Amino acid sequence: MDEVHRLEGIIEQQRRWRHFITADSKQKMLDKKLAEIDAPDRSARTLGFSFGEVEPTGNEVLNVRGLSKSFGSKHLFSGVEFQIRRSDRAFLLGPNGCGKTTLLKILIGKEKADSGSYLFGAGVQVGYFDQTLSSLNNNNTVLDEIWNLHRDFTEARVRTLLGQFLFCADDVFKKIETLSGGEKARLSLLKLMLSGANVLLLDEPTNHLDIPSREALEAALLDFGGTMLVVSHDRYFINKLSTRVLSIGMNGAESFEGGYDDYAAKIAEQSAEKPKATKTMGKGGEDYKRRKERESELRRTITAIKKCEERINELDGLITKTNEEMSTPEAAADYARVMELTETLGKLNDEQTELMMQWEELENRKAQLEGEE
Ligand SMILES: Nc1ncnc2c1ncn2[C@@H]1O[C@H](COP(=O)(O)OP(=O)(O)OP(=O)(O)O)[C@@H](O)[C@H]1O
Ligand SMILES: [Mg+2]
Repeated sequence: MDEVHRLEGIIEQQRRWRHFITADSKQKMLDKKLAEIDAPDRSARTLGFSFGEVEPTGNEVLNVRGLSKSFGSKHLFSGVEFQIRRSDRAFLLGPNGCGKTTLLKILIGKEKADSGSYLFGAGVQVGYFDQTLSSLNNNNTVLDEIWNLHRDFTEARVRTLLGQFLFCADDVFKKIETLSGGEKARLSLLKLMLSGANVLLLDEPTNHLDIPSREALEAALLDFGGTMLVVSHDRYFINKLSTRVLSIGMNGAESFEGGYDDYAAKIAEQSAEKPKATKTMGKGGEDYKRRKERESELRRTITAIKKCEERINELDGLITKTNEEMSTPEAAADYARVMELTETLGKLNDEQTELMMQWEELENRKAQLEGEE
């Protein structure tokens, strides 16, 4: 029933928005999900996912000191510092394009930092999940992608494992270049599971997964005996797993205990506290320059909120349209089309969820700026 909770959560989040969006389309999705849950063969399509035992690391897993990175004149971040300990399930959060992927790539040695350093602790074996799913060899078949790495396995064993990751019968002979995003994500996760890694760096691992697969991944990660540092925009996924949130900005990283909701509450609390401090400092007279700056930021924030709302509404229309097309008899009879539509729907929903998060942050900022008046 966890998928129901997830959808209920989305509905609840939407209801909190004051003016602009109806929860109807999500309610329809919830009804549809409830109908699906009653279907008898539902559990047959769940990933058989477990990381098993991994070699233990020491308590200190990763120490990041003063990392900075720019691409040409584009400054991403500087002064990023944090420590990761064995028991951490840490989530890196930050706006689109702030450099989360780049930071993980620095940690796996694929990008070079401009300054700063990082050090993994003793016994660490890193496993990486690539946001762009490009760690697979496009020329391989699904079967060979796994078998080449584990030559000691029998074909039957590899096929059983692939079956647990929902690659059935002839699926295993498909070329990787022909796979959908969801299939590539499942195959990458199977590779990760078999790698024996005890520290997982995961870059948006749920993006291409349907809800049952997301839940199987959540359960496997909850059970995982190692450490993880994850980038995700999926607040339900974050809330379920996170012990710590690391918020990345231009000027470094800030650490918050708990999950996404704890983090959002802390940010709201900080926003509520700041205006008071400004007011006591200002003692009745905010100077002209500061007032102008605040007014200008408020205008920009309001415009950004409007833009966010427009795109969320637009996405609502697209989601409804995609759902409608998926339920037509023509689409239902065409497996490839259904898969394509499912992927589109996943992307639309992800973009919408992320915009909701941005919208909340902008609304908080707006309230803070208005409070300073
Ligand atoms: N190799 C590169 N050369 C130049 N610019 C790059 C390179 N890699 C990334 N960038 C730019 O750096 C910025 C940060 O990219 P990055 O992918 O790290 O962000 P992100 O936080 O992971 O974003 P998202 O949330 O969309 O995944 C983006 O503007 C991107 O276009
Ligand atoms: Mg990224």
